[in-house]
Amino acid sequence: MNKIVTLDEFIIRSEKETPHSSGSFSRLLRDIGIAAKIVNREVNKAGLVNILGVEGSTNSTGDDVQKLDMFTNEKFIETLSYSGEVCGIASEENQDFIPVKNATNTGNYVVVMDPLDGSSNIDVNVSVGTIFGIYKRVSDPNKPCIIEDFLQKGSQMVAAGYILYGTSTLLVYSTGNGLNGFTLDPSIGEFCLSHKNIQMPIAGNYYSVNQGYYLKFDLEMRRYIDHCSDLNYRLRYIGSMVSDIHRIMFQGGIFLYPNTRKYPKGKLRLLYECYPMSFLIEQAGGTALTCKLERVLDLEIKSLHQTSSIVMGSRDMVRDMKEFVEKYGVVV
Ligand code: AHG
Ligand code: MN
Ligand code: MN
Repeated sequence: MNKIVTLDEFIIRSEKETPHSSGSFSRLLRDIGIAAKIVNREVNKAGLVNILGVEGSTNSTGDDVQKLDMFTNEKFIETLSYSGEVCGIASEENQDFIPVKNATNTGNYVVVMDPLDGSSNIDVNVSVGTIFGIYKRVSDPNKPCIIEDFLQKGSQMVAAGYILYGTSTLLVYSTGNGLNGFTLDPSIGEFCLSHKNIQMPIAGNYYSVNQGYYLKFDLEMRRYIDHCSDLNYRLRYIGSMVSDIHRIMFQGGIFLYPNTRKYPKGKLRLLYECYPMSFLIEQAGGTALTCKLERVLDLEIKSLHQTSSIVMGSRDMVRDMKEFVEKYGVVV
């Protein structure tokens, strides 16, 4: 029988392979694992404890009802703040970044996150996820963090990952040296290495896009989507990017959230959604571009909540998409 490798063990082993590692980064990754377990517990009992529902209303015992996305946000912020390794957090749920005050250490890293991705799925018992990215701070380590610590390109990320709260709970992450997945074993309460060195198929037959917006897409995207349909690719769109990407990661495919007339610059957030997911897709051998064919990880970021169009997935499928843009689109 193969020995089980837990997330903590894996992190410690990887740390040993990194010369001069201070252990600080490892502790941070472990804390993300802890926050994920807490959130997982709440996601699983959401229906039972009335965590679903409208934020601001009160439950039967008079407590404030907190929506699961706010709960998740708070839990991650709390855990990361106590960790001592982080000097600031930027979350999709907060307008501004949150500086972390710590008496002993101001922390060398900042974390960016979409605490609950696919929030429209919460109330209907469908898979949701968490997305995170980690940067090394660029500001003076003896002072509070500043906006420039967060406004770094995706290519500067030192790690990224997602947690999928699905039929089982999985944590997939990369420190830029391959991609590994860990499945939560509820009987021992540990994330266990289940998917080693994930490489996505170079092509597949799934496409994932909100086809309801078809008429709002640019011509080249419509042509490409017609092509997917012509080839009998299977359309799957859960409305939670983590879940949609997770399928593509293992079965091959392409995910598109193009710019629309309503969102001329795209809807998905660069810092919390596009950068981390593109980082992971590239680590798995895939490609992530904007609809103007720029590499997502190289995009300039000017504000925390900046959005982008995105097309990512299996290498050969993104290459095909590129041909449609070159043929029918206007490339910058
Ligand atoms: P969030 O729940 O964090 O706001 O993100 C939802 C995102 C993404 O996960 C999903 O693919 C997309 O928005 C769904 O948007 P549409 O309903 O416009 O397709
Ligand atoms: Mn999201
Ligand atoms: Mn969200």
